[in-house]
Amino acid sequence: MKNWHYPRFVAHRGAGKFAPENTLAAMREGYAHGYRMVEFDVKMSADGVPFLLHDDTLERTTDGAGPAGALPWAALARFDAGSWHSATYAGEPLPTLSAIAHWALANAVACNIEIKPMPGNERETGAAVAHAADALWSAARVPPLLSSFAEDALEAARTAAPRLPRALLVDAIPSDWQARLERLQCEALNADWRVLDAELVAAGRRAGYRMLTYTANDPQQVARLVAWGLDAIITDAIDIVRAV
Ligand code: G3P
Ligand code: MG
Repeated sequence: MKNWHYPRFVAHRGAGKFAPENTLAAMREGYAHGYRMVEFDVKMSADGVPFLLHDDTLERTTDGAGPAGALPWAALARFDAGSWHSATYAGEPLPTLSAIAHWALANAVACNIEIKPMPGNERETGAAVAHAADALWSAARVPPLLSSFAEDALEAARTAAPRLPRALLVDAIPSDWQARLERLQCEALNADWRVLDAELVAAGRRAGYRMLTYTANDPQQVARLVAWGLDAIITDAIDIVRAV
């Protein structure tokens, strides 16, 4: 098992319930609650700028509309990504990966970059996000952890930036999970907590992998996951799940 530099508790989409998800405001909210690692979703603008957004479309979390990958960054940068959440965050912009990197590095916050490609753009996004992250975190002591549900994106990320650690995201446990991790040279499996059990966590760790889980929000469930030996737990419940 390789060295692992990451905290156990990770704020999901920044602190995406308490501030608009995947914005700098959400990252700051996680930090204010003691979180020193954030997870966020990254996709590409039409002109190749990596930026933060969960959905494939703009409607739910911005005042824009349509497919998020169809617009150049100059257009995306004008949207309001905060009003949907609350008046407090009206005018909050979509952030670039670069902006988040500057904030995270200045505040010693570790990052889990979830590569969330637009459908059909898996390889291109994996390569571009990994390449950008490699440059942005070139002098960092703790590299960002790249993760994705898209195996093609992880494969492209590995080729583009082999030094950056990778985690395979799954919402069900594939019977060949170990072969997949080996093929993609991942250090970790990151699974929905509802498909994990103590045996699987132990088996993964015995095989030399770090075991991560998302998105656990019930403190009793989180305590169980800690007892199973999970290396990281991604949560929305930053107010009741203590980061230490
Ligand atoms: O990275 C873990 C988690 O964020 C995956 O699910 O849909 O919240 O991006 P989702
Ligand atoms: Mg995510």
